[in-house]
Amino acid sequence: MREWRNRMQISFEEEQQVFHLYNDKISYVIQVEKQRYLKHCYYGKRIKRWHSGIKDYYYDRGFCANPVEEDRKFSLDTQLREFPESGQGDFRSPAYELEDRNGDRNARFFYNNYRILSGKIAPDGLPHVYTDADTEAMTLEITLQDKVRNQRILLYYTIYEDAVVTRFAKWINDGTESIEICRFLSMNMDLPTQEYDVLTLAGAHTEEKNVYRRPLCADSVTIESSRGTSSPQATPFIGLLSPGTTEEQGEVLGVNLIYSGNFYGCVQCGQYGTTRVQLGINPYQFGWQLSPGTSFCTPEAVLVYSANGLAGMSNTFHKLYRTRVCRGWYRDRERPVLLNSWEGMYFEINEKKMLTLAEEAAELGIELLVMDDGWFKRRNTDTTSLGDWTEDKEKFPDGLQSLAKKVKQKGIDFGIWFEPEMISKESDLYREHPDWVIRSPLYEPILSRHQLVLDLSNPAVCEYLIDAVSKVLVPGNISYVKWDMNRHLTDLGSAYLDRKNQNELSHRYVLGLYQVMETLTERFPQVLFESCSSGGGRFDAGMLYYMPQTWTSDNTDALQRVYIQWGTSYFFPAIAMGAHISAAPNHQTHRSLPLKYRIDVAMSGRLGMEIQPRNMTDEEKNLCREAIAAYKEIRPVVQFGELYRLVSPYDGQGVASLLYASEDKSKAVFYWWKLEQFVNRQLPRVRMAGLDAGKQYRIRELNRIDNIPLAFEGKVLSGSFLMSHGLEIPGEHRMDADKMSDYASRILYLEEVNH
Ligand code: DGJ
Repeated sequence: MREWRNRMQISFEEEQQVFHLYNDKISYVIQVEKQRYLKHCYYGKRIKRWHSGIKDYYYDRGFCANPVEEDRKFSLDTQLREFPESGQGDFRSPAYELEDRNGDRNARFFYNNYRILSGKIAPDGLPHVYTDADTEAMTLEITLQDKVRNQRILLYYTIYEDAVVTRFAKWINDGTESIEICRFLSMNMDLPTQEYDVLTLAGAHTEEKNVYRRPLCADSVTIESSRGTSSPQATPFIGLLSPGTTEEQGEVLGVNLIYSGNFYGCVQCGQYGTTRVQLGINPYQFGWQLSPGTSFCTPEAVLVYSANGLAGMSNTFHKLYRTRVCRGWYRDRERPVLLNSWEGMYFEINEKKMLTLAEEAAELGIELLVMDDGWFKRRNTDTTSLGDWTEDKEKFPDGLQSLAKKVKQKGIDFGIWFEPEMISKESDLYREHPDWVIRSPLYEPILSRHQLVLDLSNPAVCEYLIDAVSKVLVPGNISYVKWDMNRHLTDLGSAYLDRKNQNELSHRYVLGLYQVMETLTERFPQVLFESCSSGGGRFDAGMLYYMPQTWTSDNTDALQRVYIQWGTSYFFPAIAMGAHISAAPNHQTHRSLPLKYRIDVAMSGRLGMEIQPRNMTDEEKNLCREAIAAYKEIRPVVQFGELYRLVSPYDGQGVASLLYASEDKSKAVFYWWKLEQFVNRQLPRVRMAGLDAGKQYRIRELNRIDNIPLAFEGKVLSGSFLMSHGLEIPGEHRMDADKMSDYASRILYLEEVNH
């Protein structure tokens, strides 16, 4: 008992009124000021004790409101706050706001009391970082109360063994009248300096998670989605980096939201050298009627601290998300290599083609065949049938289950595509239930990809979805589901919700989705669910809680994927990142890259194929077969190892490189990709990272197409040499005297040698 308690602790020092959450790595300190307000004191490397009273922010400044009448020096606008209100003189971005039925938005929530609890308290109905045992975490609950309005806000802080604190808040209406919550973020933190670089990930469909880093100036950086999903445009993630931070050095605070809907985040400079960081549900188009006796929970925010640069932050996120956000049977299991029908067949699928594909796939070493879009009633284009989840009898005369069994007889598993949240106007479901779609009662709803979104705030719709998907997922036949979502929410309006609750729709949509996924994943524990939203349109930690892998992007061009996967790797582990070998020319960019290059990029994630064996030469098939076999060998390192980004594609050096190392550092997989074609340019020597300096590693190149082995092929080199000196990687593949391939790439497998 004593032993585990020492790993993480929460103390309250009565005299200083200081809460200190700490473990071996980090400290998080909060102080109660003026017996009312929560001051953020510190989040960073573990400190022994917080010393208050050695610095103060109290000055009598112009335009400052003084909530404590007798103290002109005290103003909330100059304070470091933990969960700031609006309307009391802190003119920075507030964390919450209400409106009562008279239109009054004023409130006075003051510190009331606290509880320290073992284990984790989770937000109701929302995905979160979970624990396998109470001994893995401790939680601080702080209550703020507005005694005039009879409202409480409970702030939850959970500390784990690693450099992680999670936060969410719960609002409870103890009064006799309903109030509307207009804004309620998951976290706020005010930091005492503005010396930061801000890191965000933004993009678009087929262009997800570009990396943006800029120094903070005296203004704000805002990130948000109002699309109904976390979106490909923005990512609910903010990185604050001390200046000069690299992959291995510098301090980083990474904040991520475990949520799949509209979000808002900001980094805002205060007037007096402070920085405010916020993340939570987007207040835009949000409102929640809180009736007496009810409560509302925010999504959970994850705050990772790293004293070891970006690699430290990423590996903390990776381990946490892989082991304490992902759940179920597949959590700790290697993920199958799959072949997906989409880019090879699009809607033109049928039983005969799928069975041929299954045979060809099995022959290459593929473990799972996925039948993508096009299998259900009359679905020959993207204009019809979403909602009618029964097989098309013309394409599958013997039925889906018979096909699944036949595929299994060929020695591989069978998986299937769904887009359950959607409905086509041209469908039986729409004809039966036109009131089940999200729409305004006044206007014709706007289409996107010819489809509408189902109103998941309506429990009857959720029940229908659970039922429709369950009917297809006959245990033993179907091992995998690709869960797609291909349009965003417009025309917000629900025929199910009352008029006063219409502003709840976007959040209720997400809650409905979570409830559907909770039921299905519980009912089918051995089905592997993969999330997709036109690729990475909803690649977020909320989805990961239900579906332990995601289709990273619809852009399967390997060169583009180097960038997309690079950005995604900041906080998602490779095991969750679907990466498929595609055809040449590529279907999105129309660029032709060598097959080896396409393979070598895909092998740095969760490997699969879009390219169809029937379109490949024997030589190409051999290369793929060997690569798949090699991937199975390195899979434990890639999928469960630590990530070290070595040369960034953004650095302009013409190459990118990264490495995965097993936790015990006995094995590593090194990737190197050339990003453009050039001659005679000196390529950077790549220093490895994450190895054990004292270990010796034998180097073996995988997927080799050269006739001439690399100079270090088969050699035993020390970890210290590889990390301090590094290797120079030849920039082209020499097949013979006058034949060279463009876009060179290399994968090296390093295995410890014990002499
Ligand atoms: C979008 C997905 O990202 C694709 O992989 C494919 O499944 C299509 N939808 C099918 O409509």
